[in-house]
Amino acid sequence: MRDVPATPDTIPARAGGALRFLDLAPARDGLRADVLAGLRARPRSIPPKYFYDAEGARLFERICRLPEYYLTRTEYALLQARLPEIAAVAGRVDCVIEPGAGGCGKVRLLIEALRPARVYALDIASAHLAQAAQALARDHPGLEVSAVGLDFVHGLEALAPHLPAAGRRLVFYPGSSIGNFTPEEAVALLGRFHTLAGPDGGLLVGVDLKKDPERLHRAYNDAQGVTAAFNLNLLARLNRELGADFAPGAFRHYAYYNPVEGRIEMHLVSLAAQTVHVAGEHFEFAAGESLHTENSYKYRPEEFVRLAAAAGWRPAGQWLDAEGGFALQYYAAGSGVG
Ligand code: AVI
Repeated sequence: MRDVPATPDTIPARAGGALRFLDLAPARDGLRADVLAGLRARPRSIPPKYFYDAEGARLFERICRLPEYYLTRTEYALLQARLPEIAAVAGRVDCVIEPGAGGCGKVRLLIEALRPARVYALDIASAHLAQAAQALARDHPGLEVSAVGLDFVHGLEALAPHLPAAGRRLVFYPGSSIGNFTPEEAVALLGRFHTLAGPDGGLLVGVDLKKDPERLHRAYNDAQGVTAAFNLNLLARLNRELGADFAPGAFRHYAYYNPVEGRIEMHLVSLAAQTVHVAGEHFEFAAGESLHTENSYKYRPEEFVRLAAAAGWRPAGQWLDAEGGFALQYYAAGSGVG
């Protein structure tokens, strides 16, 4: 987050729209405290947001192109095919806000269809974001692009003063990233998106749906081992940034679909009894003990509608892919009928 140039200036991107960088990273770096708390707890866990150092972001981009990982491809095709309908339901949009924008790929489609005046691309991994935002501004004359380095789960309120007071806002949250939160956390986050969008705003969200568990299993256990590398990279990050001494070969990537909870669970399982040192503390792992690194919840369309409604959102449009495996849902913030 720290590598976004901390300038409040808006600068014209070469031969394109205007670009500005905002570094709204909280002063406190939560990595150390979160990791130590997660290692002391039983069962042990580490929040999935820490996957995304530079190497983690690169590995995630590779995951998105894997044959088994249907989510990105399916959502992109769905968005492309249904853009005119989505634009008709969304109506006039002045400002698109994308939490977790990453490479800014999908928002490009929305920009073509909705023609907003401004895009706010928010991401915790802001070096990657800065490059993507620069390319976005370059390719769209007349568009104002703000690249915002921010932990949007905890720091979203910091963005409000930087948004123009007038104009309709659309929060765009694709990729089924909402699945990485528990249903309770998802309602809280959707509630913060509701506040951000304002009373006449909207939400377009991508949701991966419940399906054949074998297909889900393959998506998180790819043949090339990229998802395993993504999971194990977390240990390399802790070794580098917290002076830990995890031996990555002593842990195994283990992911499976839990149909009772309706979620993929990703774990790093200790292959032997071992002691690991992290930030000056030591932790004993038993052989076979898990370090839980991610949940990826899958929903039925109506389950997700109930979740969004609990956060104040009114369903106004839904588009499914041909196999019924992925949904794009549009919600309005207001309570009126229509
Ligand atoms: C970012 N998120 C939606 C991905 C998912 O599918 O839960 C992260 C991921 N983890 C393993 N593969 C992809």
